[in-house]
Amino acid sequence: MTTKTASLNTGAEIPLVGLGCWMLKRVEADNPATYQMVRDALDVGYRHLDTADGYGNEQAVGKAVRDSGVPRKDIFVTTKLNNLDHGDVKAGFERNLKALDIEYIDLYLMHWPQAVDPDTGKTVPFGTSPTFVETWKQMEQLIGDGRCKAIGVSNFSVRNLETLLAEAKIVPAVNQVEAHPYLPQQGLDKLCREKGIHMTAYSPLGRPTADKPSPLMTDALVTKLSEKYNKTPGAVLLSWLVQRGNWSVVPKSANPERMKANLDIFELETADFDALSKVHTEPGKLRHLLKYDQPEDVMKSKKVFEWSLQDMGWEQMD
Ligand SMILES: NC(=O)c1ccc[n+]([C@@H]2O[C@H](COP(=O)([O-])OP(=O)(O)OC[C@H]3O[C@@H](n4cnc5c(N)ncnc54)[C@H](OP(=O)(O)O)[C@@H]3O)[C@@H](O)[C@H]2O)c1
Repeated sequence: MTTKTASLNTGAEIPLVGLGCWMLKRVEADNPATYQMVRDALDVGYRHLDTADGYGNEQAVGKAVRDSGVPRKDIFVTTKLNNLDHGDVKAGFERNLKALDIEYIDLYLMHWPQAVDPDTGKTVPFGTSPTFVETWKQMEQLIGDGRCKAIGVSNFSVRNLETLLAEAKIVPAVNQVEAHPYLPQQGLDKLCREKGIHMTAYSPLGRPTADKPSPLMTDALVTKLSEKYNKTPGAVLLSWLVQRGNWSVVPKSANPERMKANLDIFELETADFDALSKVHTEPGKLRHLLKYDQPEDVMKSKKVFEWSLQDMGWEQMD
C-alpha cells in the first residue's frame, strides 16, 4: 500500500493515490453509498479525497471525514468550484465549505474553464465574462484566511493554462485532467513541470463498470504486464501514471478490495514503463475516454459543455 506523497508549490504534501468521489452520476447530498465508500477508504488507508460541488455528495464526504476518527490534518481534501459560481467564487466556496463542514479545504479547483450563467443555465461562450482568468482572480482572493490552503485548475489545456498564467498572481498548485496511457497529455505534462504545477489524473482507469470494461483495462499490453507483475490491470495503469513523476491519481472505487488493489502501486521496469508510454501511438488508441460511448463522448460530439475542442485547446491530443 503506498503512502507516498508529492510536494505542491505551496509546500503542502498531496498523497499520490486519492479516492475519486464521483459516483458516476450526480447523487443526493447525504448519499449513503458515498458515506460508506469514504469511511471504507479511510479505513483501508486512503488519505486523499477528491470531490466537487457538481458531484452532489460533499455533505456525505464531509460527514465520513468527521466520523472517521482520522485527524483532519492527516486527510487531504480536494473539492471544486461549480461552473455556476464563476461569477461569484466567494459564494461558491462558502457553499462547498458549508456542505463539507471540515474546517478548511486543502485544494480548491476551478472544475472547468467554462462558466455557466446561473440565470439562464447556459454555458457562457469562450472569451465572454466571466472568463476563466476573471474567475481565477477571484479564486486568488480565497488564499489567506486558512480556510482554503491551495487553489488550482482542472481540465485546462496548454493553451488555456498559458492564458491563465500570463495574468495569474498565484501559479495553480494543481491541474487535474483526464490522463492514462491512451491520453498521456505530454505537452501539458511538460508545461506543468516547467511551471511547478502538480498534475492529478482523473478517470485513470478509463471509467470501467461491471457491464462495460474500459478499453484500457483490457488492453493487450496492460493485460501482459498485469500477468508479469501479478498485479491488477488497475494497479498497472495507476503505477505507470505515478511513475511518471509529478502525477497523482484519483481512481474511484466503492469496493474495499478494489480500493486496496488501487493503492498497490509498484515500480515498472524501464522497458515496460517505456512500452506503456508509447501505447497511445498505436492506431485508434489516442483518445479521451471521458463519457466514451455516450452521446456526450468528446470524440464524437466534438463539444465539451458547449465549448468547441478549439475553445478547450483539446483539438490536438498528445
Ligand atoms: N475534474 C474533472 O472534471 C473530473 C472528471 C471525471 C472524474 N474526476 C475525478 O476522478 C475520479 C475517477 O474518475 P472516474 O470515476 O471517471 O473513473 P475511474 O476512476 O477511471 O473509474 C471508476 C470505475 O472503475 C471501477 N473500478 C475502480 N477500481 C477498479 C479496479 N481495480 N478494477 C476494476 N474496476 C475498478 C469503479 O467501480 P467500483 O466502484 O465498483 O469499484 C468505477 O466504476 C472521479 O471519481 C472524480 O473524483 C474528475
